[in-house]
Amino acid sequence: MASPVLLFILLCSYYSTAHGGDKHGFVVVPTSSFEPEALCSTARVTRKEQNGATVLAPLVHRHGPCVPSSQSSTNKPSLAETLRRSRARADYIVSRASSRGSSNVSVPTYLGTSVDSLEYGVTLGIGTPAVSQFVLIDTGSDLSWVQCQPCNSTKCYKQKDPLFDPRKSTTYAPIPCHTDVCRRLTVDRYGAGCTDGGAHCGYFIQYGDGSRTNGVYSHETLTLGPGVAVTNFRFGCGYDQRQTTDKFDGILGLGGAPESLPVQTASIYGGAFSYCLPPVKSKPGFLALGGPKPSNTAAHGPGFVFTPMGRAMGRVDDELTSYVVRLTGISVGGIPLDVPASAFRGGMIIDSGQIVTRLQTTQYNALQAAFRKAMAAYPRLHNGDLDTCYNFTGYGNVTVPRIALTFAGGATVDLDVPHGVLLNNCLAFEESGPDIGLGMIGNVNTRTLEVLYDVGRSQLGFRSGAC
Ligand SMILES: *[C@@H]1O[C@H](CO)[C@@H](O)[C@H](O)[C@H]1NC(C)=O
Ligand SMILES: *[C@@H]1O[C@H](CO)[C@@H](O)[C@H](O)[C@H]1NC(C)=O
Ligand SMILES: *[C@@H]1O[C@H](CO)[C@@H](O)[C@H](O)[C@H]1NC(C)=O
Ligand SMILES: *[C@@H]1O[C@H](CO)[C@@H](O)[C@H](O)[C@H]1NC(C)=O
Repeated sequence: MASPVLLFILLCSYYSTAHGGDKHGFVVVPTSSFEPEALCSTARVTRKEQNGATVLAPLVHRHGPCVPSSQSSTNKPSLAETLRRSRARADYIVSRASSRGSSNVSVPTYLGTSVDSLEYGVTLGIGTPAVSQFVLIDTGSDLSWVQCQPCNSTKCYKQKDPLFDPRKSTTYAPIPCHTDVCRRLTVDRYGAGCTDGGAHCGYFIQYGDGSRTNGVYSHETLTLGPGVAVTNFRFGCGYDQRQTTDKFDGILGLGGAPESLPVQTASIYGGAFSYCLPPVKSKPGFLALGGPKPSNTAAHGPGFVFTPMGRAMGRVDDELTSYVVRLTGISVGGIPLDVPASAFRGGMIIDSGQIVTRLQTTQYNALQAAFRKAMAAYPRLHNGDLDTCYNFTGYGNVTVPRIALTFAGGATVDLDVPHGVLLNNCLAFEESGPDIGLGMIGNVNTRTLEVLYDVGRSQLGFRSGAC
């Protein structure tokens, strides 16, 4: 059994005090707010704090009505299927992150994480003139890519927008093969060596779900928002893809290795980025680059609580991609769970492709028991998608306990009720495995929070009610 070795870079010792929160510990929620809305809400969300160098792009759910010009999606997966994919992704990320301590590691035959549990994307402009492409955000990978012309129906899957054609862009340039950035691809597991007769740098990614992309590592201008462009952005121009799903045009890598967008733009945005996942599919959230300036109030910007953020140490090299934080406590309905500190020793990866939070056994059992007790007034449903589901039929409103997570340094985050606590009328948590292993913080639980990955200062911030 691989023993996880985590490296917490505890350089930062600025901590914010616990979030105030609601004294009563419970929230009455009308069940009508659980119903999906058919149309995209036009309400604009903006980040209130604007003194950092911040770029905004609406962040939308891939299968919701806010995806621009979305056709009726034919292959929307069920929640059970989405959770299955998310678990496979978690297994891969955890194995990648925790196998360093073992002397006998079976290296997976695939190189990337799953893309099919990624759910949120942004529309960016690529090239000059800029061509709009809808890309899924992924903190579990680094190299960004889009499908490129020339590419026929065998080599490219049917995507949402017209294909990007580098031959029509005045700023496109393939990266030569014998360069440092090309050699680095191999270190970060994206390497395919030289292509085009040895002239250009090739890349290859095989994801855990069987999808793959293969093409030329290239430079291009990336337009993040009106008037905001990143020049010479390195990305994969994909000429050969296999994909089991569609309706997106590529991936935006937000991991911590040199190929990722935040690392490539670190000189401009300090290596920081944030996002707010919307409460429901029919509302937009946002993606922003850059964090609050250090000179700002409380050194971190108003409204944020921060915890030290490190990296999981990985298999072949130091695993730079995944971000790790340490959870130290959980409360349900305002009452802290009675769990020994040792139950939290495994650490938590925060990953944009995870659906629900995965807690180690001792924590999970305590959370499940406290939540079931607090929800004892409602009938349980035993064939739900997760293990603690309810039948709310006939209830006009339900009283749901608040769940608060406390991280190293004391940063406490109240999850949104109901969108950060319930998914399909189920407790949006599951068990990850033994206490010593890594847990994962999922997407559902961070809905409506701004999550700020301040890679430059090795800290993760949360701000409530951001979208
Ligand atoms: C590695 O695994 C193989 C097969 O399971 C076993 O025979 C071998 O002894 C193991 N080596 C170490 C160093 O654990
Ligand atoms: C697509 O292109 C490849 C070569 O690039 C070719 O082998 C294949 O037959 C083409 N498929 C179609 C459907 O045109
Ligand atoms: C949910 O509760 C309603 C009302 O009590 C009942 O009619 C229905 O059969 C229940 N649904 C399930 C799936 O148990
Ligand atoms: C919740 O529903 C109950 C019964 O349907 C009703 O009496 C009560 O006023 C509602 N409470 C709120 C806060 O809406």
